[in-house]
Amino acid sequence: MSTGPGAEQLVSRIAILGGAGALGSALAARLARAGHEIWIGSRDPQRARDFAAALSNDQPGARIHGDGLLACASQAEICILTVPYAAHAETLALVKDALAGKILIDATVPLKPPKVGTVQLPAAGSAAVEGQALLGPQVRVVSALQNIGAEKLAAGQAVDGDVLVAADDAEAAALVCGLLERIGLRAWHVGPLANSAAAEAMTSVLIQINRRYKRVQAGLRITGKAKAEADSAHAGSSGVEIHPIRGLPLFAAGDNLADALARGLIANGLAPEDGDVVVVAQKAFSKVEGRARTLSTVSLSPEGRDLARKTGKPQALSELILSESVEVMRVRENLVITRHRLGHVAANAGIDASNVGDQNGPETVLLWPADPDASAAALRGALQARFGVRLAVIMSDSLGRAWRTGTLGTAIGVAGMNPIRDRRGEVDLFGRELKVTLVAVADEIAAAASLVIGEAAEGVPAALVRGAVYQPAEDGAALHLVRPLEQDLFR
Ligand SMILES: NC(=O)c1ccc[n+]([C@@H]2O[C@H](COP(=O)([O-])OP(=O)(O)OC[C@H]3O[C@@H](n4cnc5c(N)ncnc54)[C@H](OP(=O)(O)O)[C@@H]3O)[C@@H](O)[C@H]2O)c1
Repeated sequence: MSTGPGAEQLVSRIAILGGAGALGSALAARLARAGHEIWIGSRDPQRARDFAAALSNDQPGARIHGDGLLACASQAEICILTVPYAAHAETLALVKDALAGKILIDATVPLKPPKVGTVQLPAAGSAAVEGQALLGPQVRVVSALQNIGAEKLAAGQAVDGDVLVAADDAEAAALVCGLLERIGLRAWHVGPLANSAAAEAMTSVLIQINRRYKRVQAGLRITGKAKAEADSAHAGSSGVEIHPIRGLPLFAAGDNLADALARGLIANGLAPEDGDVVVVAQKAFSKVEGRARTLSTVSLSPEGRDLARKTGKPQALSELILSESVEVMRVRENLVITRHRLGHVAANAGIDASNVGDQNGPETVLLWPADPDASAAALRGALQARFGVRLAVIMSDSLGRAWRTGTLGTAIGVAGMNPIRDRRGEVDLFGRELKVTLVAVADEIAAAASLVIGEAAEGVPAALVRGAVYQPAEDGAALHLVRPLEQDLFR
């Protein structure tokens, strides 16, 4: 059930029986993009070959072939059945022998046109149970995907809907969950194959909703704790991986950060997976967003002169610090701590002169982006669209801490995650309920990533973090990490 590399990666050849249809072709494209070798199965082998060739054209580097149903089932290590219910029994009978010893993922919904909006389950209870009875115990049938619209899947982006996975064989269910999570779906093992009835019945309910409410593209969502948290509770922590994204260019104003990161991820052999966090140094954002300032062009004021006199810092830098701050909190020789206009407390209002480069002359400094949360959200959107998986993005900077020596990687921009992990209500080792346990998980991830993101000459401005447990949230923002002034005990 983990989103990390697992048994699902061992599955390379996948046959999709009915792969030229709406659901099958959308699955084929996603699975091929995730690196699997795909066999499109059709009643007409030539049609399958033509279809596979067309699909390959749209997916550079993909391995997609086409053939008859039996030939594909024989080739594959795992098969997915995506044919109409009317063809379910007949197709399974045809490929039964080739499926022996394999897993069959059955996506069939027992719809009986024209009344597709009415639940009409077969006498056996569900199509999946019928299929298992037909195939016998030598095939491990796993029911899945009945509630995911082919259109959404084909769009290639993160899918707003969950997948219920029912199977009698827990190992097969875990393998299928992992496979689906790798193509950007959130999958839950919901118990025995008999429970497939619920997913199969739900499709007619979703069809009704889509008809009545003008095609809202209804899907199913399991609410409660975040899936990543549930997975780690279910499987135990599988550890956290931190991968530096090496070889990125030196950034300049106007560069496409998302494009460079996408290429960098691929060049480093990193295929983003659902739940991964991309951590990027603030400097990279600031450079591409044109936040560099040349000190000689800054207009001067009496307030800036006063701050420069107290700190010994250049007056132009003092001016910029003031322009980025709402409050000067502490000043002494060569040090100024301010409350940044976004609320974060930082030395020099976060303005930095290291690693800026001298394109604009030696007197160049970098301000934080105008809206770091918005910058993180834009990058997340672009990377998700590119890779078709659900990600979080953190913009990090090294900040000092009151009361402790040394800087720490800190989240100043966040997208796709709640930066706080609320553990209240959970129990400790001794069964006592945790009362006040809000974990600044975005800061923890930023700090962990800063172990590989270079501060000095390393030139690694970004990292991919895998396996961190956090709560996905569309409205997550680093601003939520700033303690409200009225709760500040030290002023
Ligand atoms: N579409 C969705 O959004 C969706 C979502 C979840 C689940 N499902 C389920 O997934 C299955 C496939 O749905 P789909 O919408 O992809 O179906 P589809 O496009 O209508 O058909 C899929 C393929 O099934 C093959 N087929 C085999 N025997 C057939 C027969 N007797 N009549 C018609 N086609 C036959 C056809 O391929 P060849 O002609 O190449 O043999 C066809 O391309 C269904 O059981 C459906 O309930 C669909």
